[in-house]
Amino acid sequence: MSDFRNSTVYQIYVKSFCDSNGDGIGDINGIRSKLDYLKSLGVDYLWITPFFKSPMNDNGYDVADYYAINPMFGTMEDVDALIVEARERGIGLMFDMVFNHTSTDHEWFRKALTGDPEYMDYYIFKDPVDGHAPTNWVSKFGGNAWEYVPSLGKYYLHLFDVSQADLNWENPKVREELKNVIRFWKKKGVDGFRYDVVNLISKPAVFEDDFEGDGRRFYTDGRHIHSFLKELVGDTGIAGCMTVGEMSSTSLDNCTRYANPAEKELKMVFSFHHLKVDYLNGQKWALKAPDFGELRELFRKWQEGMQDAGAWNAVFWCNHDQPRAVSRFGDDKKYWKESAKMLAMMIHMMRGTPYIYEGEELGMTNADYTDISQYQDVESTNYYQILLDEGKSPEEALEIIAARSRDNGRTPMQWTPEEGAGFTTGTPWLGIPANHTYINVESEEKDPDSILAFYKKLVALRKEYEIIADGTIKITDAGSEDIISYERELDGAKLSVFCNLKGQETPLGEAFCLEGKKVLACNYPDSEGCVKALRPFEAVAVLA
Ligand code: GLC
Ligand code: CA
Repeated sequence: MSDFRNSTVYQIYVKSFCDSNGDGIGDINGIRSKLDYLKSLGVDYLWITPFFKSPMNDNGYDVADYYAINPMFGTMEDVDALIVEARERGIGLMFDMVFNHTSTDHEWFRKALTGDPEYMDYYIFKDPVDGHAPTNWVSKFGGNAWEYVPSLGKYYLHLFDVSQADLNWENPKVREELKNVIRFWKKKGVDGFRYDVVNLISKPAVFEDDFEGDGRRFYTDGRHIHSFLKELVGDTGIAGCMTVGEMSSTSLDNCTRYANPAEKELKMVFSFHHLKVDYLNGQKWALKAPDFGELRELFRKWQEGMQDAGAWNAVFWCNHDQPRAVSRFGDDKKYWKESAKMLAMMIHMMRGTPYIYEGEELGMTNADYTDISQYQDVESTNYYQILLDEGKSPEEALEIIAARSRDNGRTPMQWTPEEGAGFTTGTPWLGIPANHTYINVESEEKDPDSILAFYKKLVALRKEYEIIADGTIKITDAGSEDIISYERELDGAKLSVFCNLKGQETPLGEAFCLEGKKVLACNYPDSEGCVKALRPFEAVAVLA
């Protein structure tokens, strides 16, 4: 497999990628049927979201059996075939390990519920305090993070949905069980792993109320997190594999360790601070226009900070938990093509491994839903109710959900202009935006100027020019809050990248001249001579 520095990863949300049997739900055989498409994109790894046995309250992030395939997605034979067929094309697979919690349908939890002390110790059960929950911590999906089990007279912790019970990593048996899961999939030929919310696994020794926040400061990047990761990686022999950890509300300090080769923890990390620049007062469910000045400072902090510590980033805009970047930070109408390409360029020329989320390479947009009944995600439906309870009108609540819902990123992949978007011949499990008539693989494959063509070019450039994979990075100042720019350097060569985040021509503080330089990529026809301003949403990468 390629070195992870010049690799590009493509994320597949199984349920929404391709449906092979017409039941409206994407599946493993659907992925197999699209491997040639993925090969043509040039990506090196596929991160495939969980397809294990699950009641699907959180679409598979509630695992009931790490060794069994959810029949909705296919069989073990299908998965075995996928592993072989991906390898034949030189594409590595990364499976999604949800180890912070299991579904309450998992056999371990069921045994715990019978009062079996061995299995109760797999989870975090606590006695009531003064007749109520052990702490005031808030679940990430809304409400208190503890659920009472009357038959046991105890509460269990669930940082996510009530059907996702947090595992007790302090228990060595739990750690061993989870290592066995990795060993099992590694033996089957899986090259990589993505660890779900892995920086939340180490809980505090004492559980106490949080009077300053929602409790996260007590368990985020917790006391044993680094030793747990070292043990997990060391004992399963995956130090050479492609690994990425999803780090919720993390700190740069911790990430410089998680993703530092010297620490032997993970290859790279996802952090999310740059995806909160449109949160009002840090609140996901309160809208604000994106603050691009803040975005630039966050890139400065993380790109340069990780570099200075010798650690490696995963770089991305989109995943199955995020609204679509082009709708969020670009303009999905007038400058749809330009802004989608600009956002792509900003990430793909950075220092780090870029991740493309299914449909991002087409410029797929947010869902165009107009009624709350069209949303399915557990977080969205919970928060809609919370917003109403807080006194918002149904219209106000819907406006917030429409901007923030995870379903924006989960609408089916748009393959063709036809009804069903080539995703399914049946009824899709989640509504397909009307714009699939022009935003789809079939149409974009025919257009040399498409967003898809631009993504292919960026993926290829990373392989062709070492400076993109290995150069140093410095965030520069182009004289405007609306331009994010940076410089990469390697062996005396310099790559300058300028991205205009505004739908207007924006002057540069200092003109740059193109003579004697090579434009590696631009989302407009190339300029000539000296460039004094960037066109609306222009992005340009110049090599000198
Ligand atoms: C991660 C996943 C998300 C899931 C949550 C709980 O954030 O990406 O989809 O709901 O963890 O497992
Ligand atoms: Ca199906």
